[in-house]
Amino acid sequence: MQEQPLLSIDNLHVKFSRSEDEVFAVNGVSFAIHANESLGIVGESGSGKSVTLMSSIGLLRENGKITSGTANFLGKDLLKLRPRQLEDIRGRDIGVVFQDPMTSLNPVMRIGDQIMEAMLTHQYAGRREAFERTIQLLHEMGIPDPKSRFKNYPHEFSGGMRQRIMIAIALACEPQLLIADEPTTALDVTVQMQILALLQDLRRKHGMSVVMVTHDFGLATNFCDKIIVMYGGKIMEMATTDQFIREATHPYSIGLKRSIIEVGHKGKEIISIPKSAKTLTETPAGCPFAERCTYKTERCHHEVPELRTFGIDHQIACHHAEEVASYAV
Ligand SMILES: Nc1ncnc2c1ncn2[C@@H]1O[C@H](COP(=O)(O)OP(=O)(O)OP(=O)(O)O)[C@@H](O)[C@H]1O
Ligand code: SF4
Ligand SMILES: [Mg+2]
Repeated sequence: MQEQPLLSIDNLHVKFSRSEDEVFAVNGVSFAIHANESLGIVGESGSGKSVTLMSSIGLLRENGKITSGTANFLGKDLLKLRPRQLEDIRGRDIGVVFQDPMTSLNPVMRIGDQIMEAMLTHQYAGRREAFERTIQLLHEMGIPDPKSRFKNYPHEFSGGMRQRIMIAIALACEPQLLIADEPTTALDVTVQMQILALLQDLRRKHGMSVVMVTHDFGLATNFCDKIIVMYGGKIMEMATTDQFIREATHPYSIGLKRSIIEVGHKGKEIISIPKSAKTLTETPAGCPFAERCTYKTERCHHEVPELRTFGIDHQIACHHAEEVASYAV
């Protein structure tokens, strides 16, 4: 029997109010992550990756609302906790790396103090120990001369360096779970590899789990045990990475995979899928991908495909997955 998940998100729905209309950003997302597991969430811009993760840890913009769902972390539903309780968990048990480091670093505080503060606030360490660990973390993040860089402010670093500082803050209290939204996008390939190796090491040593949002499909398949593909605020396909590489079947996943082959390993553009994703101002009446899908039938426009088992550790939300699989052979 598999152990209890560390984080289990069930049937999450999130919408935003705008002056004229509403945006249905997350439309029934469910997944779980276990100890020592890494999960990659991929999908093109606007598919709901960031909102899924950020809303489940209480970091939703003011115009956003969770309309249903649960997010159980170590026996507590994060969606029911008070802001203060969530702040306790974030930074201590759950480390968070945001997509844009400049908005989450304090511009008027020395970066060393910001890393130390994470440890002091959560009573992870006393001042001396926190200082030593800060220097160690800066060193591990590949920041040269950590003792003097400790005293610098965020604007004195490049974008890539700031990203590393964010990661150092997130890892400061040795969290059980790291939620990382595009954590290495701003970094060059060598540093990216160093940081991923460090994260792998932490996973091995402390059993840390990682949920990582990334546009880089190659990175997701190299680093993660499981892959989730999102589109239109829903999970389209979820599988172990091996299975995903061998037999991704959802028409959107197939398009994503093909685009990587066509544009090279970075996969920043989706060129093999016609049209582009729309902002959803209504809950989808059918498959959110139907407008762009070459396999669609009439049914796809008026019946929402639910995520269903398609094999061991493999789930898919497509009415015609069996036919698609037979074409793909
Ligand atoms: N504060 C907001 N107000 C209105 N709409 C929002 C807000 N935040 C996000 N959205 C919308 O919710 C949808 C999902 O956004 P989200 O940021 O989760 O996308 P994403 O998959 O993370 O994309 P990216 O890869 O560009 O980061 C998008 O349509 C986005 O425009
Ligand atoms: S449900 Fe229909 S439209 Fe959606 S991916 Fe499957 S075949 Fe395409
Ligand atoms: Mg995002």
